[in-house]
Amino acid sequence: MTSEIEIKRGLQGVYIDRSKSSFIDGTEGKLLYRGYSIHDLAEKSSFEEIAYLLLYGELPNKTQLEDFDSNLRDSRSIPAEVIEIIRVVKDSHPMDVLRTAVSALSAYDNEVADNSVEATIRKGIRLTAQAPTIVTAHARIKEGKDPVSPNSNLNQAANFLYMLFGEEPTEQEARLMEKDFVIHAEHGINASAFAARVAASTNSDLHSAVVSGIGTLKGPAHGGAAEEVMAMALEIGEEEKAESYVRNILDGGGRIMGFGHRVYKVEDPRARHLQTECQALGDQKGQPKWFRILSKVAEVMEPYQSRGICPNVDFWAGAMYHLMGIPKELFICIFAMGRIPGWTAQVTEQFSNNILLRPLLLYDGPMDLPYVPLDDRK
Ligand code: ACO
Repeated sequence: MTSEIEIKRGLQGVYIDRSKSSFIDGTEGKLLYRGYSIHDLAEKSSFEEIAYLLLYGELPNKTQLEDFDSNLRDSRSIPAEVIEIIRVVKDSHPMDVLRTAVSALSAYDNEVADNSVEATIRKGIRLTAQAPTIVTAHARIKEGKDPVSPNSNLNQAANFLYMLFGEEPTEQEARLMEKDFVIHAEHGINASAFAARVAASTNSDLHSAVVSGIGTLKGPAHGGAAEEVMAMALEIGEEEKAESYVRNILDGGGRIMGFGHRVYKVEDPRARHLQTECQALGDQKGQPKWFRILSKVAEVMEPYQSRGICPNVDFWAGAMYHLMGIPKELFICIFAMGRIPGWTAQVTEQFSNNILLRPLLLYDGPMDLPYVPLDDRK
């Protein structure tokens, strides 16, 4: 009987449901949010518009966008008690702090147990608005500084940089951060969205689903790659050393971070948007070397493209954040902040047509062993 069972390890190639949130074609390198090309959205849209699109299913008109944006801006503050919790756990990794603080916020959200689509969207808006406040409060507390209060004159991306550094970002930096949030906002049933949906499928709640998503995103095989890519670039140090560095890793059976993807077997369509930005920012900051090092890494990796191992979204992101002066432990939090609308959209889909996500494991351990009392065991 067990010989007839086909195990799909890692759920590779398994469709678990239908979704209207995003479309991915991994062989064509195509990504659509709610039907719209990521290329148009990355170049022409705003994070606020994308969050609306993902949560409500269609692009907003002007009034809808204004109302949505002001709702986001009004929802940024977090309770003083949550700031205290952040102080208590300040020495943990920023993703652990974000996970803990989002969990704590559930205690202050009077809609926590309401799983209606409307309440879930309202909670998703609040969490989207509050995540940068958590991340930046922690970053500053860790450095012995006071958190900076949100500035309602700034949009989501500019306000994040403002709360992090205590001064308003340049227009270019704010726009880059916004583009980054846009391209990270949603991406099918990746591991963290799956984790969020599993939590939702038990009729738990959005806060629990987002906590699951954050915990799952943290791993280097998923969202942690941008940090690892920059660590690699720093270790390489200069362009001339990139080739031997990459070859050493590959010869030793290792992996180059920022390359490869479970779904994309051609270039991740999000990657190019950050590639050009990374180059422009490096030139503008008088630090072109990170782009050059990464370009060299990409060049050495070119033969691997025929095996479907191409640059992914995280490959250029790390250098871009580094050039903005963002500490590397925060890189993955940026991904998480951008992704909350996507997780929320998928949780509303799960709630709207729920089925418990509960696959099977094929047991291959021993059977029917006699129980030996503790005193009789050797
Ligand atoms: N460098 C070198 N070789 C690689 C890489 C890489 N980055 N990625 C995959 N491979 C090779 C594997 O060694 C394996 O080779 P083999 O068949 O000779 O054993 C083959 O490609 C298939 O690898 P799998 O791990 O089976 O492929 P999977 O689809 O499960 O992996 C993953 C996807 C985990 C993202 C992988 O490519 C990886 O570890 N990449 C580096 C980490 C990274 O950049 N993660 C970010 C992903 S994007 C995101 O989450 C936003």
